[in-house]
Order: sequence, then C-alpha cells, then structure tokens
Amino acid sequence: MKVLVTGGAGFIGSALIRYLMAETEAEVVNFDKLTYAANLASLAPVADSPRYHFLKADICDRAAVAAALAEHRPDGILHLAAESHVDRSIDGPAAFLDTNIMGTYSLLDAAKAYWQSLEGPAKEAFRFHHVSTDEVYGSIEEGLFTEESQYQPNSPYAASKASSDHLVRAWHRTYGLPVVITNCSNNYGPYQFPEKLIPLMIIKAMAGEKLPIYGKGDNVRDWLHVEDHVRALWLVFRQGRVGETYAVGGRAEMTNLEVVERLCAILDEVLPHSPHRPHAGLKSFVPDRPGHDRRYAIDSGKLERELGWRQGHDFESGLRQTVTWYLERRDWWEPILDGRYGGERLGVGSSASQSAQARQAS
Ligand SMILES: NC(=O)c1ccc[n+]([C@@H]2O[C@H](COP(=O)([O-])OP(=O)(O)OC[C@H]3O[C@@H](n4cnc5c(N)ncnc54)[C@H](O)[C@@H]3O)[C@@H](O)[C@H]2O)c1
Repeated sequence: MKVLVTGGAGFIGSALIRYLMAETEAEVVNFDKLTYAANLASLAPVADSPRYHFLKADICDRAAVAAALAEHRPDGILHLAAESHVDRSIDGPAAFLDTNIMGTYSLLDAAKAYWQSLEGPAKEAFRFHHVSTDEVYGSIEEGLFTEESQYQPNSPYAASKASSDHLVRAWHRTYGLPVVITNCSNNYGPYQFPEKLIPLMIIKAMAGEKLPIYGKGDNVRDWLHVEDHVRALWLVFRQGRVGETYAVGGRAEMTNLEVVERLCAILDEVLPHSPHRPHAGLKSFVPDRPGHDRRYAIDSGKLERELGWRQGHDFESGLRQTVTWYLERRDWWEPILDGRYGGERLGVGSSASQSAQARQAS
C-alpha cells in the first residue's frame, strides 16, 4: 500500500506518518508546502526510512499534484493540508480560501483524472480521504453533533473547511470519485504547533508568563488525542464505506478554563520546585474572540459501531503525557518560538504582543 498524504509536515499529518511507519508496512509520500505550521523535525523519527518520501509542493498547483500522482502512483490520498488556525483566519481569510477551498479543488481535479486512468482492482480500491473538522457544524448548546448535523460554519476557517467538504461530496456524487470524509474535534498531543491552546499554555506556564484565556473561559471543546485520531483515519481510509462521513470525537468535553486548570495542576506536580507554582495563579482573562463558538461536541458512535474504533487515551493521561513531552522536548519547540524555522516569532516570551499572546486553539 502506497499513500499520498497532504500536509504531512503538520501536527496531525506528521502523527499519521509516524504511525504508518511504526505500525504498518505502508509507503508514504508526504506532499507539503511547508507553511509556518509545518515542521520537518516532527518527521525526524521516520525521515531515513526507505518507505518515506517528501515532496515540497503546493496543493493549489494542480500540475505539481498531477506530477506527484503520475510519479508515485499511490493507492489513495489522505488529504490533511490546510490552513488550520481560527484566529489567523479572522486576521487574514484569503489564505484559508486559497488552500482549503481552491487547494482541495485542485487536488480533487487531479485525483479524479488519476483515478479515471486506473483499471481493475487498483481503480476499485482507490480512496480519497478528506480530513475535516467538527467546526463546520457551528456551535451546539445541547446534545452532540453527528454526521447528519446541519452545516453552520461561523468562522472563515470553518466556512472554508465546510466548502471543501461540499466539494469532496460533489466529486463523489457527480464523478463517482471514491471518497470518505472524517470530521473530528480538537486534537491535542505531542508535536503540536505552540500557537494552539494546550502547548501555548504549557510553555507559557513553564516560563511564568500570563495564561491568556478568552472571555470567561467557558467555551466548551471536546479533546481528541492525536494518536487516537490517526488510528481512526487509517481505519476509515481502509474500511470506511465510500461516500460516507465519520465523526471522530474524544468523549472529553470541557471548558477552556478547566483545560488550563488541569494542565496547571499537572505542572505543579511535575515541577515541585518551580517558582511559578501554583501555575493556575498565572491565569489572565482577555477579550473574547469575535464569533467564538460556545460549544462543540461530537458523537463517534458510527465509527465505533461500524469500524470498531476505540479510544486509547483518556484526557487525564493524554494531557499528562503531552505536558511531559513539552517539558522534555525544548529542542523541538524552542526553535519555533524564536523563528528559527523561518516563521514569525510567536507570542511567547517577553517581546510578545497582546494579540499574539491571545492566540490560542479553537
Ligand atoms: N488540529 C486540530 O485540532 C484539527 C481538528 C479538526 C480538523 N483538523 C484538520 O486536520 C488537518 C490537519 O490539521 P493540523 O492541525 O495538522 O494542521 P497544521 O496547521 O498543523 O498543518 C497543516 C499542514 O498543511 C501544510 N499546508 C498548508 N497549506 C498547504 C498547501 N497549500 N499545500 C500543501 N501543504 C500545505 C502545512 O505546511 C502544514 O504542514 C487540517 O485539514 C485541519 O483542518 C485539525
């Protein structure tokens, strides 16, 4: 089995590739433009494998996608490349529309031509797996989102992902492209770019900096460990029913305030000599994000019933593992903070602006 993974140098894509290299025999082509969010250091554990190939390219470049498909002849595509950060989509939506909508279109168009050129079992087995978010459904007061929930995206990010979901569905219904779609909740775990809530708060708390929490901190999110997510992706890619959508959630709903308090309690325990204890004393409330969805919660029942997926991590142990990882892996995140990977300096450290400090997870 040979797969083309788009966005494989990002948080979830790199976790997927590490998983495929460690747990399967699959050969992987990582197709990634290397935006600010990418980090090839996340792929260091697999970079020397003869089953791993890297292509620096843009999904909006249809010719580059077609050339990659013609050269590598994959058995399927796992599409994760996207602009993924809600706050950035509010500040500058254009890149989100380009990559998430037009990039997905370009990929679909090239994938369709490639799939149509296949014959027999290879054509039958080909899959285009689109990785999306529960944010396409908007905010929910009670109950859980399911695959049947109405699309009501509220941020430019969510709207661009909703558009890409619709394109993928249309390429299946109109052209017969064999697609599967997954919509998942907030991911967390090792190797997450430190602008998102959990790594941002861990790193700031370790440095004794204020922990900026939007509004009253009462927005509710469901947290899915990235290692559970990538197992779900591989299961759906191989065994999901063509044309179907599968929701992936973590059964770990909590307010942003609770998440911050829990990680502060873990830091108090694992850093008993820190001058910043109790870390929860660093909490600071900042003006809310515009259009901030109040609650997301999603039901993974279909994935569990049909494909037998089960979570391996509960939130408490997953968060503990994540905190420990960030304590031990300064070599991974410090170069990101000071811009050594070519991105802008992030809002952690003394020169941070208030808006950069307030950036955090959806
Ligand atoms: N992180 C989450 O909590 C979460 C939740 C639900 C859904 N998702 C979805 O999962 C996918 C992966 O998310 P992530 O958190 O790993 O994102 P990420 O921002 O960490 O990584 C995105 C990757 O895509 C690459 N990329 C961006 N634009 C590209 C382009 N035009 N061409 C080729 N590569 C490009 C980047 O270089 C980067 O490596 C995204 O589609 C996202 O919408 C993420």
